[in-house]
Amino acid sequence: MSKPDPITTVSHSLKVRPNFLSAWLRNPKQVGAVLPSSDGLTNTMAAQVNRGPGLTIELGAGTGAVTSALLSRGIKPDHLVLVEKDRILAKELDHHFPALRVLEGDAARLQQLLRRSGLGLADTVVSSLPLLSMRTLTRIRVLSQVFAILQSDGKFVQFTYSPRPPIPERLAHSLGIEGKRIERVLWNLPPANVWVYKRTLENITATRPKVNTLHRGDMRRTGF
Ligand SMILES: C[S@@+](CC[C@H](N)C(=O)[O-])C[C@H]1O[C@@H](n2cnc3c(N)ncnc32)[C@H](O)[C@@H]1O
Repeated sequence: MSKPDPITTVSHSLKVRPNFLSAWLRNPKQVGAVLPSSDGLTNTMAAQVNRGPGLTIELGAGTGAVTSALLSRGIKPDHLVLVEKDRILAKELDHHFPALRVLEGDAARLQQLLRRSGLGLADTVVSSLPLLSMRTLTRIRVLSQVFAILQSDGKFVQFTYSPRPPIPERLAHSLGIEGKRIERVLWNLPPANVWVYKRTLENITATRPKVNTLHRGDMRRTGF
């Protein structure tokens, strides 16, 4: 398969998703990127999702670039739930993807959002959230919620522009999860890395997963 040229990638992003720029202007830190994700990145993320009957949750769906890739991959609309904090983007997503459930809200309150909509555990969570630019406490809240709603063998798929892991190693260890960089996507601006996290084997067999027991005190002790 031939590689897309970077100029086409950028102009495609700018042309198709003008809402992204206005969302960035409203709240640059929350959006965490100036351009939407390229096809190379969205397809790499979508390829990590099994096309089984389980639920897939997309966090920080933005303008729906990853959503489109997930649907193209064959994820059924009634198995896909989008979560987006920005009210205007959430409305746009609802408009563009009428067959999907779009939950407007904060990923740090994921359990509550899903419970309110009568949804249960997910097989996969795919995230475009700017995890590394979040405050530590918020990041821990989001990750604790993610692993509380994932099946025991569930996957968390996250991209980052940083060469570092999107979840600092010490934090991953404390949460009882481990990650692997699946791919470096050069055809994205800026280039991005896709990581997949799962519970460690010992955490799967533990009676109480660590993610539910991590508190502010743990953070102070471990110095995140
Ligand atoms: C990098 S952008 C989205 C990229 C998306 N893949 C695209 O190309 O349109 C990150 C998104 O996460 C959303 N976001 C940030 N923090 C959030 C949170 N705590 N809960 C839910 N969404 C959040 C932002 O509003 C933004 O739409």
